[in-house]
Amino acid sequence: MTAEGGTQTGAGEFHAIGPVEDFPLDEIQLVQIEGREVGIVRTEAGFFAIGNHCPHQGGPLCLGRVTGTMLPSRPNEYVYGEEGLVVRCPSHGYEFHLRTGESVGGAVRGRAAVYPVEVRAGIVHCALRRIAPARRPEAEEDRVLHK
Ligand code: FES
Repeated sequence: MTAEGGTQTGAGEFHAIGPVEDFPLDEIQLVQIEGREVGIVRTEAGFFAIGNHCPHQGGPLCLGRVTGTMLPSRPNEYVYGEEGLVVRCPSHGYEFHLRTGESVGGAVRGRAAVYPVEVRAGIVHCALRRIAPARRPEAEEDRVLHK
């Protein structure tokens, strides 16, 4: 699938990708936008876009599965969650949050590129403007504690 850029050619502009119904739930559709490989995925929580370059060793992240993950829990407890909000890289199995591109549990340094997605008149659009990392709550806590 190739994005129909139309007259919107700037890196921050949205590109038309395709109709919503072309995106089955929890399946990553690999598209090319201005030569960049981006995976568009429709989940119960909405649409997400993530770069195809895995921050671990450059594997094809978008060939991975959309899944959930094990959540932090007490000893001898196993809590599964975030179903449909995580992609597992097919190369070595590290998991990345679709919202932020960060690895689950901070297992991998760096993060996958994530991009904004909008649905306009039933058509999925994506911009190549990278979404900035979210501020970590612990960083906020540090700032408050070390005033
Ligand atoms: S290259 Fe993706 S987990 Fe290693």
